[in-house]
Amino acid sequence: MLLHEIEELRKIRREWKGLKVGLVPTMGALHQGHLSLIKKAKESCDKVVVSVFVNPIQFGPSEDYNQYPRTLDKDYELCTQAGVDIVFAPSPEVMYGKGQRLSNDNLTYVCPPFFYVNKLCGKSRTGHFDGVCTVVLKLFNIVQPDFGFFGQKDAQQAVIIKKMVRDLNVPVEIVECPIVREESGLALSSRNKYLSDEGREDALVLSKILKNIKACYRKGITDIGVLKETAYGFLTDKHDLEYLEIFDKDTLEEKEKADDNSRVFIACRVEGVRLIDNICLGGE
Ligand code: PAJ
Repeated sequence: MLLHEIEELRKIRREWKGLKVGLVPTMGALHQGHLSLIKKAKESCDKVVVSVFVNPIQFGPSEDYNQYPRTLDKDYELCTQAGVDIVFAPSPEVMYGKGQRLSNDNLTYVCPPFFYVNKLCGKSRTGHFDGVCTVVLKLFNIVQPDFGFFGQKDAQQAVIIKKMVRDLNVPVEIVECPIVREESGLALSSRNKYLSDEGREDALVLSKILKNIKACYRKGITDIGVLKETAYGFLTDKHDLEYLEIFDKDTLEEKEKADDNSRVFIACRVEGVRLIDNICLGGE
């Protein structure tokens, strides 16, 4: 069922009293990465809601909000095939009110702690995680799920959402799902659509760097500086590296030495497209 209005959804949600409900929040342009979250939700819940909403308040003024791929018909079809009960696709007006100025001097925002946002993607994307937390909390309030499913592809996002849920006592259990990759190693992303064939080849550098760092760690190298340096041999003038960091996977704290709880995070532009990836150094 495809729903666009909050009240329609609430009505059905009331009929699901006593059932285990899972929510998979997405911005659409669904691919196998999203579908892996949906599959996990189907396995553990009685009812599954997928939200498809390109959230304006998590995009910066120079980011790709207008170009972001919108493929609702195809998304709905994929969800139906996957056994999703409701696809919730609200308009920005439904989510934020008609004619509202979308800024935190006019709307209530959720503001995650500075320590978690002042690094990795939060550093170059000011306000991004405020926008993410705000929309996710709104979706939780609208759908009232028991479980929320998030991908490790956006590992910083998953850490921040878990923190929000803990700090604000949101009664939703967060389930993290592993990164889905192409056979080549490229992590699936809706933004891969922006890449040319050559760009897709160049984009393989992200997963290659991560794999190589993990292999070096397995050989016994734990010095963060040494591990990071192994990346530079892979980069060419086609790659505009934004960050390469090794942090604790749960707290995003810096480490003295890499260990099994460390995650390597990378962001790099290829053909102007901002790509992110990460890998956990221990087994996950
Ligand atoms: P979106 O980029 O559409 O991603 C929706 C969910 O799918 C996120 O939890 C993301 O981590 C997961 N995902 C994307 N690619 C994946 C992959 N290759 N493997 C596994 N999981 C993957 O993330 C967002 O939307 C938004 O910020 C949102 C949470 C919906 C808030 O607007």
